[in-house]
Amino acid sequence: MTTEQNVDMVTLAIDGKEVTVPKGTFVLHAAKQAGIEIPNFCQYPDLRPFGACRTCMVEIVTRRSTIDISCSAPVSEGMQVFTRSRKVLDAQRFAVESLLVDHPIDCPICDKSGECELQNHAYYTNVRVDNPLARPKMSWEYETLSESVMIKRDRCVLCGRCVRVCDELVGATALAWADRGFQSYIDAAFGEDLKDSPCVSCGLCIEVCPVGALLNTSYHDTARAWFLKRVQTVCTFCGVGCNMELHVEESTGQIKRIIGTQDSGLNGEQLCARGFFGFEFVQGKDRLQTPLVRKDGELRESTWEEALALIAQRLPEYRGDSFAGIAGAHNTNEENYLFNKFVRGVMGSNHIDHDAGVGQGVRQAGLRDVFGSDAPTNAFLDIFENARCVLILGSNLSATHPVFSYKLQTAIRRKGIKLIVAAPQALPLSQIADINLQYRAGAEADLLNGLAALVAQRDLVAHDYLAEFVDGVDAWKQTARTYTAEGIATNTGVPVALLEQAAELYATGGAGVDGRLEDGLFPPSSIVFSAGLSLRDGGEEIEYGAAALALLTGNVGRSGAGVNPLKVANNGQGALDMGCVPFLLPGERLLEDADSRRELERAWGLGDPLPSRPGLGLEGMLQAACAGRIRAMYIMGSNPAQAHGNSQVVNEALSNLEFLVVQDMFRTPTAEYADVVLPACSWAEKDGTYTSAERRIQRVNKALTNHGESIPDWTILVHVLEGMGFERLYTASDQILAEIATVVPRYAGVDRRSLERAGTVVTLRPGKVYRNPSIDPVKRLGVHWPTTESDPHGTPVLYKDGFPGGKARLIPVSFRQGNVMGDGVYGGTINVSLYHQGTGTMTSRCPTLVSLHENGAADSSPERGRGVGMLQSPNLKQSGYSTGQLTDI
Ligand code: SF4
Ligand code: SF4
Ligand code: SF4
Ligand code: FES
Repeated sequence: MTTEQNVDMVTLAIDGKEVTVPKGTFVLHAAKQAGIEIPNFCQYPDLRPFGACRTCMVEIVTRRSTIDISCSAPVSEGMQVFTRSRKVLDAQRFAVESLLVDHPIDCPICDKSGECELQNHAYYTNVRVDNPLARPKMSWEYETLSESVMIKRDRCVLCGRCVRVCDELVGATALAWADRGFQSYIDAAFGEDLKDSPCVSCGLCIEVCPVGALLNTSYHDTARAWFLKRVQTVCTFCGVGCNMELHVEESTGQIKRIIGTQDSGLNGEQLCARGFFGFEFVQGKDRLQTPLVRKDGELRESTWEEALALIAQRLPEYRGDSFAGIAGAHNTNEENYLFNKFVRGVMGSNHIDHDAGVGQGVRQAGLRDVFGSDAPTNAFLDIFENARCVLILGSNLSATHPVFSYKLQTAIRRKGIKLIVAAPQALPLSQIADINLQYRAGAEADLLNGLAALVAQRDLVAHDYLAEFVDGVDAWKQTARTYTAEGIATNTGVPVALLEQAAELYATGGAGVDGRLEDGLFPPSSIVFSAGLSLRDGGEEIEYGAAALALLTGNVGRSGAGVNPLKVANNGQGALDMGCVPFLLPGERLLEDADSRRELERAWGLGDPLPSRPGLGLEGMLQAACAGRIRAMYIMGSNPAQAHGNSQVVNEALSNLEFLVVQDMFRTPTAEYADVVLPACSWAEKDGTYTSAERRIQRVNKALTNHGESIPDWTILVHVLEGMGFERLYTASDQILAEIATVVPRYAGVDRRSLERAGTVVTLRPGKVYRNPSIDPVKRLGVHWPTTESDPHGTPVLYKDGFPGGKARLIPVSFRQGNVMGDGVYGGTINVSLYHQGTGTMTSRCPTLVSLHENGAADSSPERGRGVGMLQSPNLKQSGYSTGQLTDI
């Protein structure tokens, strides 16, 4: 990994200050590290040097003295650099004055005013009021490039950041220069409107524009930058877990915009459309203001006292198996942990699940059988930095995990990583894949187990690794003989030649059969898929195949490798870690393990023994409610009435309940069945932690005052428990986190301080955040569990020191001619939109996202995929939770 490499270092002096940086660093970045600012426009930290604006001039003295641009001058040993000499200041001023010759200088009405780099550099370089180069000002009107992006072209300094980030960092290439020379301007790359381009509305071009040329339509003319309070937090939508700043206008208490910040989180400044534009639901007009209680068949506004008293009176009669609880994959860890304690410990029921997918609660097998845990093995940055080949299986990551896909495409293009995309249809990432395996929908298990069999048959296996770390090899190989290339091709629809090529590419990490490294292994390959893919009957065979491929080739417990099922929701991993599935206690410990139950009983100290009877998952709960066996339910931050594919079953189940409590931000379709609805805070109104799809625990920070009478979900539960006779258990979410750190071994030692330290950045001046060189690039990204008391930075790569049970276990899957899982309904996450997520409870209340979705902006869903070269698949159907498909928003 990066952290383990020896990098040649170079020492130079900048304005007399000695600084040591890695060889190859450019002078401008070395100066930043030394805390010295040099004006610049066209450079941008993650982009290749461009050298267009000439504002970053410095004096460089090696054998002779030269004035040069610092953004593309590499450092050398003993170099002396002067950034404030007379000659330098004159050169810098000339460059900035050249940019101002026809600039409108309409700062009073410019959205960028107060955080504009042209303002700052003009001030810094002392430009003259009577600019001798001034020309008559050009004037361009505001123009709309799409529902999300506006442009005021006369403010553009032609730095090209927007064009280049869109191409290099997003992979969309939706912007371009038009015309030449003095007439140059920025435009949509294809036609007049970004809707005609592959723009994914990520907002990055707006974010990096140093001036007020590219503008955010939803922020335009709504606030002044200097009145905005900035609060660092984590996105509430998908499992990438992007860090972001909420900009809150204190006088109105409203979020005005969201931005990513350089060097914070995996994403830095990059967000996707949901992250950038998806906050309007927080201040939506239909947020619940007060509790609602059903009276005379109608839900009516009520008081907290009345609602809590009713719950305290009714709930106790349903203790035991007639009670069930459904948590949400968007709740914080603290909330889901407390929910688990409430359902199992207080209500005495193991009927607990969360809304990550139908079947989540009932599927017990998969990676856990092979490795000992279902968790993804490798941190995202580890994959981007160290993988030599990536196999993406059956998942449209451009929609489910957009910033992961943007970062991956950049890594692929820059580092030459080989890419295999296996999916029933072409996806955005298919366009840059080395091999596309377009298989018959439902044939994932055959494809993966088949590829593993081909790897074994060609002896591309890691013999020493298998001997040391893996059990069951002989039995597995025996079964693998039942696979033939022709048989796999028949079942999957993928031609034999492509199967052979893909098996070799993956197994050899793109190095070819003669490319073994000194340790006998090939360069690392990584497997990535959306966890929803295997959430269906028989889905464990997909994971057995993925694990077999990885283990056979020594690609587990190694940087740049691994098997990575990514949870789709922002805290899907956390919901699992907190035990919101019937058969798992917090920390992925099995309910059936009596010692684990005893340990939890002691830690919780609630009196009664924890129930040992197996619990039901969501599907089972609904069936049991229909049959009258489950009579009361508590739903916290989940909306099964809208998400579930079978509305008849949900309707019958929820109508049949004697008592239903729902905690939510909105009066959702599920809330319509409730006896009591309790108003919950949004993620922007509370503290806590989320655990991203790469096992990274991060802090969520309160930015807004509570909406109406809403309170955080965990606080509601504390009050409910108080009403049921428990003394107030917690007064701050950090207290719950402290308990998690003692009860859940993989979270050991995690607390607010360790999480804040792990995410530390240094701010040199308002609006600019620069890298703290003392922070390790992997550790800087938060805390990957498992953590320990002695190393709270955690574990970016699992199983480096072996597996929890000693060895991993290969599990054979026999070849079955004509086998195709299910009926061709695609159980993965192909059918998801870039602009909406889940049931759309949050995203459908964001007008910008709704308008992007409705107006045909480039999307990643197949039916809306114009502009991204997508194919339609007649096999794809749409339904419910497990597809993540939006049907009714
Ligand atoms: S918003 Fe569109 S044009 Fe701008 S960087 Fe993102 S994809 Fe490119
Ligand atoms: S629009 Fe902004 S980012 Fe793009 S070239 Fe002009 S000034 Fe640079
Ligand atoms: S939805 Fe996912 S990719 Fe998009 S900003 Fe949020 S965490 Fe990042
Ligand atoms: S920042 Fe160096 S030339 Fe533009």
